[in-house]
Amino acid sequence: MLNDFVKSLIRWYEGSARDLPWRSTTDPYLIWLSEVLLQQTRVDQGLPYYLKFIQAFPTIQHLASASEEEVLKLWQGLGYYSRARNMLQTARYIAYKMNGIFPHNSKTWKQMKGVGDYTAAAISSFAFGEVIPVLDGNVARVTARLLACSEDITKNTTRQLFLQFLEQLIPAAAPAVFNQAMMELGAMVCKPGKPDCASCPVASHCQGRLMGMAASLPVKAKKAKPTLRYFDYFHLVYGNRTWLIRRPSGDIWQGLHEFPMVENTHPEPVPRIPFLQASALQSMALEAEYTHRLTHQLINARFWKIYTTPEQINPLSGIFECAHNRLKEYALHRLMVRYLEQQHIETET
Ligand code: ADE
Repeated sequence: MLNDFVKSLIRWYEGSARDLPWRSTTDPYLIWLSEVLLQQTRVDQGLPYYLKFIQAFPTIQHLASASEEEVLKLWQGLGYYSRARNMLQTARYIAYKMNGIFPHNSKTWKQMKGVGDYTAAAISSFAFGEVIPVLDGNVARVTARLLACSEDITKNTTRQLFLQFLEQLIPAAAPAVFNQAMMELGAMVCKPGKPDCASCPVASHCQGRLMGMAASLPVKAKKAKPTLRYFDYFHLVYGNRTWLIRRPSGDIWQGLHEFPMVENTHPEPVPRIPFLQASALQSMALEAEYTHRLTHQLINARFWKIYTTPEQINPLSGIFECAHNRLKEYALHRLMVRYLEQQHIETET
């Protein structure tokens, strides 16, 4: 019965899976890179980044010798920038502390920065044939439906239950293909909200379908309310020049660049700007307002354009001048990119 499930799944995968570049390699560098990029990113969004990264950094040594700035710049637009910094740290660790030899099993992979259970299992099974199930969001959804399980899939007990089930299922001779196939099924057929049971190769094994509840699974705990934050950004303009600041550590967007800003915990009718002299404020105009959703935060941002002169800017730690046509050389976060695109200012080199 289970054997029949695996056969049908793998036959379907081999006949209709997408041809993705990281599927035709066992190079741990390429697989690690693809998995880091694909965490919380859809394949269609992640693929161009993957191609850019392997072009810029064809080997782990290339990546290890890159600056954080270069890596953040290539990562621009993907979000979750701590993942990029962790990736660079791990590249340096493997290149310099492990003589460029990649960990060979999931236990050692888990000791690397930014590599959790899911990524460790994915890399170890795809690159080294370790018999270990991958449990990402796609696979969790597929499994919840197969088992008609209404438990909250974010709970650890549910994950343990799913892992036990998958461990029984995963064939020792083909762990990589099995894992890829489960992920592919989740991405292409067993989709969130609307499973395409009619074209599912394992529909006859699915308790969720048999019980008419596949579409309403999985059950996930509601997210906590996001923290509201209010950011006022100042696009200071002096001829072709503007001013930037690099975001400090300990908050979102660490190491990325942005216009000088002030933050408030409540909406303010008009922001105070401690780093500008009053004479500069005559030209101040509201150019754009955006709300930007992050995992646990909702940012309400306003962008103000102010024509100024260097003398009107009070000394502000870390502020530096930048020509508008050189803004694209800096790693910028999504809000900055959104604003600059609206202003027809280039953000990609
Ligand atoms: N998402 C995460 N890892 C993936 C992979 N190897 N193939 C397709 N989608 C993925």
